[in-house]
Amino acid sequence: MQQQIALTSYSALPCYRWGLFSCGDPAHWGRLLFLVMWLNLLTQAESCPAKCVCYSEPRLTVACQQQGLFSIPTDIPVRSQRIFLQSNKLTVVRSTSFSLCHNLTVLWLYSNNISYIEAGAFIGLEKLEELDIGDNSNLRTISPTAFRGLTKLHTLHLHRCGLSELPEGVFRGMFSLQYLYLQDNIILTLHDDTFLDLANLTYLYLHNNKIKIVTNNMFRGLVNLDRLLLHQNHVIYVQPQAFGDLKNLKSLFLFFNNLTVLTGETMSPLVSLQYLRLNGNRWICDCRARTLWEWFKRFKGSSSDLECYLPESLAGEDLKRLKRDSLEGCVEMSQIQTNLFISEPQLGNFLSTESPLEDTIPSCCLGDSDKSSIVSGKSRQITNNPHKEKENMSKTKYKQQERTKNETQNKQNDGPLGTLSNSLDKSLEDLTPEFIDNPESSTASNKKKKKCSKKPKSDTHCIRSQGSNSQMLLFLIIPMTWISLTMS
Ligand SMILES: *[C@@H]1O[C@H](CO)[C@@H](O)[C@H](O)[C@H]1NC(C)=O
Ligand SMILES: *[C@@H]1O[C@H](CO)[C@@H](O)[C@H](O)[C@H]1NC(C)=O
Ligand SMILES: *[C@@H]1O[C@H](CO)[C@@H](O)[C@H](O)[C@H]1NC(C)=O
Ligand SMILES: *[C@@H]1O[C@H](CO)[C@@H](O)[C@H](O)[C@H]1NC(C)=O
Ligand SMILES: *[C@@H]1O[C@H](CO)[C@@H](O)[C@H](O)[C@H]1NC(C)=O
Ligand SMILES: *[C@@H]1O[C@H](CO)[C@@H](O)[C@H](O)[C@H]1NC(C)=O
Repeated sequence: MQQQIALTSYSALPCYRWGLFSCGDPAHWGRLLFLVMWLNLLTQAESCPAKCVCYSEPRLTVACQQQGLFSIPTDIPVRSQRIFLQSNKLTVVRSTSFSLCHNLTVLWLYSNNISYIEAGAFIGLEKLEELDIGDNSNLRTISPTAFRGLTKLHTLHLHRCGLSELPEGVFRGMFSLQYLYLQDNIILTLHDDTFLDLANLTYLYLHNNKIKIVTNNMFRGLVNLDRLLLHQNHVIYVQPQAFGDLKNLKSLFLFFNNLTVLTGETMSPLVSLQYLRLNGNRWICDCRARTLWEWFKRFKGSSSDLECYLPESLAGEDLKRLKRDSLEGCVEMSQIQTNLFISEPQLGNFLSTESPLEDTIPSCCLGDSDKSSIVSGKSRQITNNPHKEKENMSKTKYKQQERTKNETQNKQNDGPLGTLSNSLDKSLEDLTPEFIDNPESSTASNKKKKKCSKKPKSDTHCIRSQGSNSQMLLFLIIPMTWISLTMS
């Protein structure tokens, strides 16, 4: 009897889905009325938790939002299909809070002050489809097994939770997940294969975090991703295979990041892309941008502008709209350092310790398709690149500038390794040892060294110009610097 009484109090509706009485029976009505009144006085808490409203249509719902609750009611009916607890003052989710609600499909816990979710808090909720824990800014960490077993979940909100990291494997087995909201956290990086099992994921929101590098394996497995929002992060570099699995991606937002270079190779797996936003970065519009420029020639979708930041002569221009021969030169590394990194210590530190600068911003435009940018002082190509399109380098807008006396002196070391250590370019002395010692840098540098060292005399070297109308990297300097430092 107690059970029947409890059930009646769920709803003010005279005919409720999950009550035990049938409608239309006068005796039933009288008894029901009595029971409801009695219940309201005595036992409502046993059925519908205090401060909550319970109703059965469209699904059995317990609605307790905006009630100033400090803890999750302990008497939530086990048959509940939807539980709304948002906008309270909850601080903890216990492993027992919902564990018996096996038919739960929707659980809203957003906009509370939850700082701790016990391990196993969602275990057994095999039918859960939507879980919203967003806007609990004191949460900060999540147990690696917090979402284990949620194989039916299709929507997970974790935005504005103060998360700086996602534990390895936290989304494992969530095969049905379609919408994952992780924006407005302070995520610095994501483990490889964090999303590997999420083959059904269509939206991944990661904007307004602090991600610096988009790594090759970060988005592996996201073969059905439709929308990837990465804007307003600190992305300085996207590794070449990072988008390799994103063959169905239609929208990619990378605006307001710290990108300077993005290669065509990186973008080429995005065969379904329709909407691209890359504005608000600091694009270096020189030979490093060539492959991206070429990718844009093939790209059929719509894109924001890509405002050139360097060289100064092209500042503000849209990279996509430049003429091919605008991208023949190379901005000097020292200038990039000055303009982009030295001003930001955090970023400088990042570059020297976590990733080689060579990786993020090639110091010299010597990619296989860009060797033409190294020319002799007499406009003679030093390297023969079979893939290179014909170019008349003597027409290049980059004119060799008169070298200063000191620079001439520096270049007078004709030996293959030179003795430049005595006369380092000032800007290069500022490079951190970590950067210069980096093995990847050194490999690249050695390659460049070989190319450049073919030049016999000081008057035959990689084009350099620093003038107002042209910027060309002196390719010799960085490899020479590295070599001389390692030898000294
Ligand atoms: C869940 O729903 C099924 C089918 O409607 C029902 O048989 C079962 O008793 C329900 N379980 C709980 C815990 O309410
Ligand atoms: C949220 O919880 C923390 C403790 O976890 C407490 O210090 C803080 O005052 C709470 N904030 C609000 C708005 O209740
Ligand atoms: C995607 O979800 C559907 C149903 O939601 C499921 O049948 C299918 O197995 C899922 N795909 C993968 C790759 O798990
Ligand atoms: C990084 O990007 C942010 C936002 O666009 C910008 O404010 C900041 O100056 C950038 N930092 C560097 C070093 O470019
Ligand atoms: C290259 O440019 C020079 C001077 O502008 C011109 O005389 C020469 O014919 C050009 N060569 C080619 C192959 O276009
Ligand atoms: C050459 O170097 C010396 C000392 O390093 C400096 O005082 C002088 O101004 C330099 N001259 C030029 C033309 O840069």
